[in-house]
Formats: sequence, C-alpha cells, structure tokens
Amino acid sequence: MHISAVLLSLPALSFAHFHLLFPPVRGSFDAGSLDQYPCGGQNTVGDRTDFPISGGPIQIDNEHTESKIQVLLALGENPTGDDFVYVMLPTIYAQGPQEFCMGMVGAPAEANVTEGTKGTISVVTSGDSNGGLYQCADVTFVNTPLPEAEYNDNCKNATGIQVSSSNGNANGSSSATSPSSSSDGGAAASPTSTPGAASVNGLGPALAVAVGAMGIAALL
Ligand SMILES: *[C@@H]1O[C@H](CO)[C@@H](O)[C@H](O)[C@H]1NC(C)=O
Ligand SMILES: *[C@@H]1O[C@H](CO)[C@@H](O)[C@H](O)[C@H]1NC(C)=O
Ligand SMILES: *[C@@H]1O[C@H](CO)[C@@H](O)[C@H](O)[C@H]1NC(C)=O
Repeated sequence: MHISAVLLSLPALSFAHFHLLFPPVRGSFDAGSLDQYPCGGQNTVGDRTDFPISGGPIQIDNEHTESKIQVLLALGENPTGDDFVYVMLPTIYAQGPQEFCMGMVGAPAEANVTEGTKGTISVVTSGDSNGGLYQCADVTFVNTPLPEAEYNDNCKNATGIQVSSSNGNANGSSSATSPSSSSDGGAAASPTSTPGAASVNGLGPALAVAVGAMGIAALL
C-alpha cells in the first residue's frame, strides 16, 4: 500500500479511542498513552467527584464500533495499578459507536465503601491492538443518590447501542475465573497480533493498517 494513501486517511481514524465523560475524567487526554494501565498515562490524582455508593452513570464517548468494556475500582488517596482489585462492572461487549452510558454502576459490596471513601474508577476498553485503553476518574463515595436530572444529563446512549455479556478482562489479560475466549474475535484476545495484519475490533484490515501507520507516525 502507498504510504501517502494511508496518511491521508489518518485524520478521521486517529480519534478511534474513547473518552470518559462521567464521572469527570482525570487529567488531560493523551491518545498516545491511552493504552497505559490503569489510567491511560494520567498518573496524577485529579479533582474528586462525589459518586453515589448505590450507583451512578458511567458515560463514555466510544469511537470504536465494538469493544469490550469493564469498570474497575481502586480505593485510597493515590492508588496504583495493583490496587484496582474491585470490579464495578464485569466485562460487557458493546456495539456503538458514540455515546454509551453503562447505567447504574455502584460500588461492589466487598469493597466496604462508606460515605467519604476515596477511590479511583478505571474504565477499560479493548480498543488497542496490544490490549486495553484506559481512562480514570477520581471520586469520593457518598450515600446521596444523584438527582434524577443530573443522572439523565450524564447518561445517554447513541442510537443503535447494543450490549451483551462478555468474559475475561476487557484488556485481554487472562484471569483465573474467566478464561479468555475468542468468540467475538476482539483484537484484545490476541495481544501478540501484529498491527496491520490483524483485524482491530473487527473493523478490518484497512483500519488495522492505519493504526499501524499511526504507531509509526508517533515515532517520527
Ligand atoms: C489488564 O488488566 C488487568 C486488571 O484487570 C491488569 O492487572 C493488567 O496489568 C492489565 N494488563 C496490561 C497489559 O496492562
Ligand atoms: C444505555 O444502555 C445501557 C445498556 O443497555 C443501559 O444499561 C442504560 O440504562 C441505557 N441508558 C439509557 C439512558 O437509556
Ligand atoms: C470488608 O468487611 C469484611 C467484614 O467485616 C472484612 O472481612 C473485609 O476484609 C473488608 N474488606 C475491606 C476491603 O476492607
């Protein structure tokens, strides 16, 4: 393939990531480090948002037409990767793209969260050919539910969103309880695949090649 043809197609494709919209995302968006577990390269704790223990919306803008999505939780002031031991939302498979609200997602019971507990939510999607893409939000858990108007403002689904259950971790890593499966053919299930050769999230070779080219462009 002629390289200029690939580069010409980049502007539309270079945003094939996802943005965490609610709770408000930590840090600034850096597409180049979005694949760094657990917070997409944003390693400094940011402003905390009050988040209901009983559940609040988790809203993303997904630029992939299909991905595995999982929501993890770490407790404490300044958690690091090993601290994301709680699962707020087990892995689902969502077809979009665009606005996707995961509905009421609450603190898992085993985390013993109470009023004032500090935590960091990590939203994981399978958008990267080598594993996951990550965005975090820093929260303080509260007993007060979100007012209905605020919930509705922060929970929207684009037309045509379809969700089904999935398995394993959204970043494709194996887990003792959920053996990885390739039933939906996600790129996350094959972490050793070569960009450009494999289909990225079923979008086909053209996007995979473009993603590979983006990787090269990032090195220049
Ligand atoms: C994938 O996510 C798990 C937690 O679900 C984490 O332990 C692991 O380090 C992540 N893998 C990579 C490559 O970041
Ligand atoms: C969006 O879709 C998800 C998954 O089907 C659902 O849980 C959530 O309630 C929906 N939100 C709205 C506002 O329809
Ligand atoms: C939660 O509470 C149970 C029962 O008191 C305790 O066994 C467990 O260790 C607690 N977990 C955490 C994360 O504090």
